[in-house]
Amino acid sequence: MANANGKVAIVTGGSRGIGAAIAERLGIDGFTVVINYAGGAAEAETLAEKISQAGGRAITVQADVSNASAVASMFNTVESAFGGVDVLVNNAGVMQLAAITEAEDSVFDSQIAINLKGTFNTLREATRRLRNDGRIVNLSSSQTGLLHPTYGIYAATKAAIEAMTQVLSKELRGRNITVNAVAPGPTATKLFLHGKSKDVIDHLAKLAPLERLGEPVDVAAAVAFLTGPDGGWINGQVLRANGGII
Ligand SMILES: NC(=O)c1ccc[n+]([C@@H]2O[C@H](COP(=O)([O-])OP(=O)(O)OC[C@H]3O[C@@H](n4cnc5c(N)ncnc54)[C@H](OP(=O)(O)O)[C@@H]3O)[C@@H](O)[C@H]2O)c1
Repeated sequence: MANANGKVAIVTGGSRGIGAAIAERLGIDGFTVVINYAGGAAEAETLAEKISQAGGRAITVQADVSNASAVASMFNTVESAFGGVDVLVNNAGVMQLAAITEAEDSVFDSQIAINLKGTFNTLREATRRLRNDGRIVNLSSSQTGLLHPTYGIYAATKAAIEAMTQVLSKELRGRNITVNAVAPGPTATKLFLHGKSKDVIDHLAKLAPLERLGEPVDVAAAVAFLTGPDGGWINGQVLRANGGII
């Protein structure tokens, strides 16, 4: 609990998977954690309880990140509860795989709305609200480098997030706020495992020289580095946390 001295961190999409691991880790690191979720209220509440029982402090806030006014309300709620915000982790995301020739408009629109517009919504709000000396971490994906077939729309949203990461790190000059991205490789969560056969999962797990899938805690450790004292000189960078897959 030594690092953060009660600084306040919002983790979007914190109800499960990588976001839940990040929220739990930031709670251990001493942040007051805001677990954002869209639909998974019960999972978010269970996680908040777990963080509290471990000696940390956490609340849950429902907000669909694709909705700008819901995002503004979430920041209002957090400021009312804790007096300010220091860290934003943009983790909420969806992945719908489709070859470009077959992709329905809805597949394009929902990934743009949640991954890209959602990240924009929270970034814009954070630029107006984050206290000086803050940290922002955006979740990208190693698919921006792997560029596997069927990942085109998803990878495009993440490439855009990497671009905004680097631009925003410059726009926040003078406030001592760092903006970085963490780009996981295949990680054992619902988002990755859903709809894949065991053979496909085994194949993807073996692609990295470390020959396993990432676990949510592996990614949470990379985020914790960037939000913690040792990450303070890292700014405008993309950290691929992927076992060496690319
Ligand atoms: N798993 C991987 O292999 C992998 C690899 C590279 C990058 N990533 C990135 O890592 C991040 C987390 O992925 P994950 O694997 O942990 O996914 P996941 O297990 O599917 O969890 C996604 C989280 O995002 C939330 N969410 C979805 N839509 C939302 C919305 N509109 N507003 C607010 N929250 C929303 C979900 O909450 P509700 O259940 O409440 O909707 C859930 O907590 C994503 O940005 C993903 O692109 C994952």
